[in-house]
Amino acid sequence: MLKIGVLISGGGTNLQAIIDACKSRDLQAQVAVVIANNPQAYGLERAENSDIPSLSLSKKNFDNKGDFFNQIQETLNHYQVDLVVLAGFLDILPKSFIKAFENKIINIHPSLIPKYSGKGYYGIKVHEGVIANNETYTGATVHFVDDQVDTGQIILQEAIKVMPEDTPETLQKRVLKIEHGLLIKAIGKYIHKEI
Ligand code: GRF
Repeated sequence: MLKIGVLISGGGTNLQAIIDACKSRDLQAQVAVVIANNPQAYGLERAENSDIPSLSLSKKNFDNKGDFFNQIQETLNHYQVDLVVLAGFLDILPKSFIKAFENKIINIHPSLIPKYSGKGYYGIKVHEGVIANNETYTGATVHFVDDQVDTGQIILQEAIKVMPEDTPETLQKRVLKIEHGLLIKAIGKYIHKEI
């Protein structure tokens, strides 16, 4: 069975969607470990509630970014992870890490890449950009991670209409809702080698 390592920084609703899909057997996979770069990440509790091993690492406890990511890499290897899912992980992976898990890292981004993606477009900033530019559509994208930010091969995208009454906050909520299903579909494609 495919072993997934999930990297998070926050609430972990995408992580929860993966956990639920594994439990219901919608995904023939298992979340082997959850790693957070922020000890406050609520996703850590989600892992604990489902008896999934989890670890929180703070960059400030490491001499440099390389050591920090080496620790993450070692942990993923320890749990024999086959696929790494970045589910709201707010850090840029170093090239050596990406190389070590080549074509085995996927990310979910809350926009229709290439729009509102790349450095600086994360969290609410993505949706602020969409509203500021009066976009008619926005959405979410699941893609492979390569050595640039948000540029890897796109696996799946889904669009939603931006409503006149939308604010960045309402849009963020509505996009997050479609992210969960999209991420599960994309992981399913990976499992069934349909990518
Ligand atoms: C999601 O919008 C995801 O696309 C982005 O960060 C957010 C994480 O949300 N990369 P959650 O922690 O999964 O609830």
